[in-house]
Amino acid sequence: MLHAGQQQILRQARRFNTVSCGRRFGKTTLGLALASRGAPFAPGGIRAGFDVGWFAPSYKLLDEAWRSAKAFLRAFVSRTDAQQHRMEFATGVALDFWTLEDADAGRGRKYGLVIVDEAAMTRNLEAAWNAAIRPTLTDHKGGAWFFSTPKGRNFFWQLHQKGMHEDSWAAHHAPSSANPHLDPAEIEQARLSLPERIFAQEYLARFLEDGGGVFRRVTAAVDPALTNTLHTSRDAGDGRAYVIGVDWGRHEDFTVFTVLDARERAVVALDRFTQIEYAFQLARLKALRARFQHAAVVAESNSIGGPLIEQLRRDGVGVTAFQTTNASKAQIVEALALAFEDGALRIPPEQWLIDELMAFDQERTPSGLMRYGAPNGGHDDGVMSLAIAWHAQAANPGRVGSAGARISLPSFV
Ligand SMILES: Nc1ncnc2c1ncn2[C@@H]1O[C@H](COP(=O)(O)OP(=O)(O)OP(=O)(O)O)[C@@H](O)[C@H]1O
Ligand SMILES: [Mg+2]
Repeated sequence: MLHAGQQQILRQARRFNTVSCGRRFGKTTLGLALASRGAPFAPGGIRAGFDVGWFAPSYKLLDEAWRSAKAFLRAFVSRTDAQQHRMEFATGVALDFWTLEDADAGRGRKYGLVIVDEAAMTRNLEAAWNAAIRPTLTDHKGGAWFFSTPKGRNFFWQLHQKGMHEDSWAAHHAPSSANPHLDPAEIEQARLSLPERIFAQEYLARFLEDGGGVFRRVTAAVDPALTNTLHTSRDAGDGRAYVIGVDWGRHEDFTVFTVLDARERAVVALDRFTQIEYAFQLARLKALRARFQHAAVVAESNSIGGPLIEQLRRDGVGVTAFQTTNASKAQIVEALALAFEDGALRIPPEQWLIDELMAFDQERTPSGLMRYGAPNGGHDDGVMSLAIAWHAQAANPGRVGSAGARISLPSFV
């Protein structure tokens, strides 16, 4: 039985739908109900007898949806293929689950209905919709549902705006409290314990102007005059002082070097690459440092960072080590957030960095600590290298940047 809030949404369905609701409203449950029943909701553009595609932003969310679907749809399913994440109903209709991390999601399929769960969490939802999802609807003139809790004014928000104005679209909205199965006292507890804007986003499903993330006023910090001067050498004695924050790449990650002009408090160069061969990384860092007057270097010392720092020191490069722990990360991230809040820092118009900053997220661990990072397999290497550089200049205002200076970060080394 769908609850009244869910039924209301179905009554107002059109071919394309955005459903912006608070956490725990019952979005996924409603999506599964749609996927299983398809036909009865024909007014919403859902075509009877055609396959259904379910799209999730990450493998983890796909797996959760797959498990829920198996339990929830047990009575209707005649066959499941766990490998392909495909289930077939007794009616002959199939339900496929895809992760949008997979560039081939939906390729070659035709759907009568697609469901995108946690749409606002999808990196590059616009490209996914245009290239992967939308084409699957062409043959059958299928319908689409985008379910999500908002995450700032990203592409999900744009779709939601469209939903308010275009005939074939509907924009649905409901707070968490519209789910009668939630205890109102729990929601009240969340209201009292969360920052107001986080509650507004997560429980009232409001589209906050600068996202619900950790960093606010990011766009205000973007200075178009700050082009990435990676390959320009700085003259010795130009009166500037530089620090380079280093986040080493591992596996699929990027290595990022952020060069901060410590006096101007501006990011003047960024180097980002996936080549993780050690000699390559070290050579590249040394070349960059040479172009910035032998800038002070602060580098993450976890795992591969340790040996890399040792090598740099043997090569005569003064490096300060930064040990990332949950607590040290929280400390430098919060300091960086404050810098953005105060307008104390300027960054160049590098879209990948802006995206990382806007997406960067927090969650409260069961023990009550804040844990920071990129959501759903996103990257935070740029954020971390910037946070390290910012922390270094803030902790050592007088010392950073005099040629080859060693700077110290006593609390973390
Ligand atoms: N119609 C319903 N009848 C009974 N319980 C429901 C119904 N809809 C949702 N629920 C319950 O409410 C809770 C939240 O549902 P669901 O996971 O679908 O919400 P959600 O909006 O997707 O949450 P999240 O924001 O965590 O993704 C679950 O415990 C689910 O069983
Ligand atoms: Mg859900």
